[in-house]
Amino acid sequence: MQISNEIYKFFADYIYKQTGITYLEKDYYRLDSRFKDLMQFFELDNINDLYQKYKTNITPDMHAVLINFSTNNETYFFRDKKPFKALTEHILPALESKYGTGMLKIWCCASSTGQEPVSILMQLKDKANKDFNRVVFKASDISKEALSKAKSGIYNGLDIQRGLPISLLMKHFEQQGEENNWKISSDILSKINYCEFNLLTDTFEKNAHHIIYCRNVLIYQDMDNKKVILQNIFDALKPGGYLILGNGESLIGINLPFNKETFDGLTLYRKPEE
Ligand SMILES: C[S@@+](CC[C@H](N)C(=O)[O-])C[C@H]1O[C@@H](n2cnc3c(N)ncnc32)[C@H](O)[C@@H]1O
Repeated sequence: MQISNEIYKFFADYIYKQTGITYLEKDYYRLDSRFKDLMQFFELDNINDLYQKYKTNITPDMHAVLINFSTNNETYFFRDKKPFKALTEHILPALESKYGTGMLKIWCCASSTGQEPVSILMQLKDKANKDFNRVVFKASDISKEALSKAKSGIYNGLDIQRGLPISLLMKHFEQQGEENNWKISSDILSKINYCEFNLLTDTFEKNAHHIIYCRNVLIYQDMDNKKVILQNIFDALKPGGYLILGNGESLIGINLPFNKETFDGLTLYRKPEE
């Protein structure tokens, strides 16, 4: 498939403006498989037809399809393990000494297909059951398709083999019919308020959350966007609240007054207490 620079640039610019996800010229080839998916979806066999379709008018549905195909939704249960252990062993006791045992607001802000929020809630239920009930939990993503799978609470045979101990599968999931599909229990699923949220363009609620998980999403953003998003996250946290980033993500080059705390080698970012 011969694709002109004009076409690559058109889609790369649109994706950047809408999501902050950057495709530099040297990475344009990474769009090829996205184009194939889009052409298949719209039953087009010519890249120029796809280009003309998007150039003429981008409807909300066309926008959603493009965003679904442009995002990388890679995730799995208990990814990197420590962010979940840190919650019950370090973060909750620290927050309890500041805020007592009232309502606890947690936001998982790039939740993909839901394995991360489900892992957090299984951890709470099993290791801090008294806190499970007082948690108000929001999970969001930019991809409608990822959110729709997350909301279903159903995971296939491949999903459940990735990071989920068999004991937790047996305890918290129920098999669906004959297929190797498993549904998370309703007490966990009903606890999660899934919603669409674009970290780059949507308005953050200020001073609202005790804990924000923002993992493996900022790696796709350039420094300018990262600064904007992290400033908004800082403002969205309550005093003494915690930000948890992905493995290999850091605040290097970002000038925000977070205090660093360490749990078992994992860095946690804490908004100063007033
Ligand atoms: C690689 S997944 C990480 C999922 C999960 N946090 C984890 O660590 O396993 C990145 C997610 O970020 C979402 N995403 C990308 N850009 C976004 C944006 N601007 N606003 C909100 N979500 C975004 C993608 O749709 C995708 O589901």
